[in-house]
Amino acid sequence: MSQPIPTPSEAKEAPKVAKGLEGVIAAQTSLSHVDGPGSQLYYRGIPVREFIESESSSFEEVVYLLWNGRLPKQNELDSFRAELGKHRPLRPELIQHIRNLPKTSHPMAMLRTLSSVMGIYDPDGDGYHPETSWPKAFALTAQFASVIAAFFRIRQGLEPIPADPDLAHAEDFLRMMHGRTPEREMVRALDAYLILLADHGLNASTFAARVTTGTQSDIYSAVTSAVGTLKGDLHGSANQRAMEMILDIGDPARAETYVGGLLDQKKKVMGFGHRIYKLADPRAEAFREIARKLCERAGNTRWMEISNRVEKVMLEKKQIPCNVDFFSASVLYVLGFPIDFFTTIFAASRIAGWTAHVIEQQKDNRLIRPSADYTGPMNQHYTPIGKR
Ligand code: COA
Repeated sequence: MSQPIPTPSEAKEAPKVAKGLEGVIAAQTSLSHVDGPGSQLYYRGIPVREFIESESSSFEEVVYLLWNGRLPKQNELDSFRAELGKHRPLRPELIQHIRNLPKTSHPMAMLRTLSSVMGIYDPDGDGYHPETSWPKAFALTAQFASVIAAFFRIRQGLEPIPADPDLAHAEDFLRMMHGRTPEREMVRALDAYLILLADHGLNASTFAARVTTGTQSDIYSAVTSAVGTLKGDLHGSANQRAMEMILDIGDPARAETYVGGLLDQKKKVMGFGHRIYKLADPRAEAFREIARKLCERAGNTRWMEISNRVEKVMLEKKQIPCNVDFFSASVLYVLGFPIDFFTTIFAASRIAGWTAHVIEQQKDNRLIRPSADYTGPMNQHYTPIGKR
């Protein structure tokens, strides 16, 4: 009797699979550095907390830094802000596309669709080169805010509010959403949110953007891949899920039983854990303070009390710290974003990093194509359908 033929993985020592690509260094970047052991995040070498500690920082300044490699002088920041503002208004065709979507569309599905549609209206939408990608990066970064605000209003049966190119990005974003001039504290809180989420090393959605770029596909396709990747619960949608959980708990006294129940069922508690930060996520620390101040200002500290209890239980029972999505969820809630929009606000910030990574990849590209350890059978043969 013939011996069973070994599969490739039985025949030789099975190669070591880096499941989830943990620990694999798949690209070089000079944009941001995620320091897990040091619990720090740096943009071009600058710790992100320094932006938050300064009253003068803004999203535009961080985008300039990521895209140009240095902080802008005042006149450079002024013209950069004006350029971004110029790109913020939406062409009527894009607004029509948003109107045509079912109002029940998830905002992230809407954004994924519109990222792709934006490429169709760019006469050079298939372009791949770094020089021609910069205007597209401006358009994507500026218009994500406008697209999100337009869908927010159209979904409620309201007319979209046109962008005001003279305003700062965070201020115009809130104004286009809510239809009134936002208070200074709210603008500052949104700016802080947009600053803290702008880039984060080779996170899953950025990796997806770089993989798409690696095939010499265009920036709209890369961003569409990234939005689709951010949409998952283990990545960007954790902020939506975290807020749903906080509201579902409803009372600080219920937090321990609620979280204990999730852990007993081996479920993930959203807004906790991280692939790289095992001690603390520096962005979570910044958001804790911002959320506390906003909740106190709004005269409702209940969410903070619930959040603090959930955090305590997770540290006691699992020694797992919270991540960026936990306390930032409360910030977005106080800013008046509906919960199912939370991940789109994440995308409105991360678009700065995605586009920067796409262009960095374009400048020094090689197809990204890892291998798989095949574990299926070998030496099978095709049997015609009538003989199976
Ligand atoms: N709740 C409960 N347990 C968690 C957890 C969480 N949020 N995050 C990690 N763990 C546990 C896992 O169950 C696993 O335990 P085990 O070894 O007993 O099986 C261990 O910690 C390692 O988790 P794992 O999922 O393998 O880590 P990872 O590096 O692959 O995943 C995340 C990282 C972020 C995907 C993961 O922590 C997670 O799912 N968090 C919730 C979603 C979230 O907040 N995402 C936003 C990230 S910024």
